[in-house]
Amino acid sequence: MLFVISIIIAYLLGSISFSYLAGKLLKGIDIREHGSGNAGATNTLRILGVGPAVTVLILDALKGVAGVLIGRWLGGGDVLIEALCGLAAISGHNWPIYFGFRGGKGIATTIGVMITVAPMAVVYAGIVCILAIVLTRYVSLGSLLFTALLPLFIWFMQGPKEIFWLSLFVFVFAWFRHRGNIVKLVKGQESKIGSKK
Ligand code: G3P
Repeated sequence: MLFVISIIIAYLLGSISFSYLAGKLLKGIDIREHGSGNAGATNTLRILGVGPAVTVLILDALKGVAGVLIGRWLGGGDVLIEALCGLAAISGHNWPIYFGFRGGKGIATTIGVMITVAPMAVVYAGIVCILAIVLTRYVSLGSLLFTALLPLFIWFMQGPKEIFWLSLFVFVFAWFRHRGNIVKLVKGQESKIGSKK
């Protein structure tokens, strides 16, 4: 029973959309009606600037950390429960119950979840992600590479199978949420970091 409660708490926590709240608090706007329409740190950067974007990135990541830790605490150290709670936090971010199930693409929350369960994989995938963003100025490309590399690194590092499966689900979630970005990347129409569109 406790494990079900931990998953629900992680989902409810993940549902707190900090980019939405930042838009409302700082400009009285719904961030989902501006820029890319995504409730995430990248769109916060476009619409609200660097300070709010960094704050949103950190808070969205902390939701992921907290989700996993709640699973660890209530699940008595069962890695499967940690993984399910991590996935629940990311699902909350993507499909938030408080905001009409219209949320973000899950990358910041994924960073928080995965850094708690597989920190070295996040470091290695993170380096590739940052390099991709610096070289191309496409945040979405970095996000796609980051989530695609996580399962590979976890596989090679022989992490727990539950964490490997978590990273596979994370990969599928992220690529599904980025399907519009993928089309734009292929067409050369994706927005670059620093652009207001
Ligand atoms: O993490 C989201 C990022 O990869 C893309 O965001 O707003 O450009 O669709 P956005």
